[in-house]
Amino acid sequence: MNHLLKLSDLSKAEIIDILNLASQLKYERKNGIEHKKLSGKTLGMIFQKASTRTRVSFEAGMYQLGGQAMFLSSRDLQIGRGEPVEDTARVLSRYLDGIMIRTFAQQEVEDLAKYGSIPVINGLTDYCHPCQVLADLLTIREFKGGFEGLKMCYIGDGNNMANSLIVGGLKVGMQVSIACPEGYRPDPKVLSFAADCGDSFFMTDKVLEAAQGADVIFTDVWSSMGMEGEAEARKIAFKGYQINDEVMDVAAKDAMVQHCLPAHREEEITAKVFEAHANEIFEEAENRLHAQKAVLVKLLG
Ligand code: CP
Ligand code: NVA
Repeated sequence: MNHLLKLSDLSKAEIIDILNLASQLKYERKNGIEHKKLSGKTLGMIFQKASTRTRVSFEAGMYQLGGQAMFLSSRDLQIGRGEPVEDTARVLSRYLDGIMIRTFAQQEVEDLAKYGSIPVINGLTDYCHPCQVLADLLTIREFKGGFEGLKMCYIGDGNNMANSLIVGGLKVGMQVSIACPEGYRPDPKVLSFAADCGDSFFMTDKVLEAAQGADVIFTDVWSSMGMEGEAEARKIAFKGYQINDEVMDVAAKDAMVQHCLPAHREEEITAKVFEAHANEIFEEAENRLHAQKAVLVKLLG
């Protein structure tokens, strides 16, 4: 593994390997055991979109590993004034040990990796959110003890989260069901990967059908970053695509709820269900730190 651009680039063994290292690093942090595995290393973090969790967990993670992180807002970089990504990649490769980038087009992340000579980590694009889903898988494994025989359900927009959850969930051996309105389906490349997984994948526009017997229920915002202009139309299209009591009633008795955050209460999830499962949701947020530290050690160590 040279980069983390999207989960479809990783094998099941590589994903499990990251999760195992993440669990170890989490245990060590909780027990005051420190490793300066990335001493002297610098991670550049390019942000073309807002972030709370990704920025802070990468920055804290680098610090905990003995390295440092540099926040690079695209507003202040020449990339924001049109300097080509292939030039930015070649320049930054001479200063840094790794780059994390959050942007719009997946191609920009792929190009950064192609033209640069240091590891590139995708901190979210319109296409996918691999760091988040590694943290999600870690959380599911912690709460459920493994992946075998589990059914994971995603309700809502077929967006970056849906794309990564489908790939990640299927790769580790879960059943994956998704409920989304027509016109808001996941990326065709992801659906083609899922189709090759046979009965393990199920897609519908009916929320309760997808949630039936699910062990883990996910959702995400109806309007992702960059889609603010569509917000009103999306509120209409996604009405009913919500995790609420009705959904929890048809899910497995001990079903867990996951949300990558930020959450919009009473849109994709009710405040009641959110608070009832806050423990799982905030553990998921914490796991961003541990999962990313594992990725950083694998790529920059
Ligand atoms: N879940 C997530 O990526 O959060 P941020 O947008 O705050 O980084
Ligand atoms: N789908 C959301 C995820 C935010 C972490 C977005 O792209 O805005």
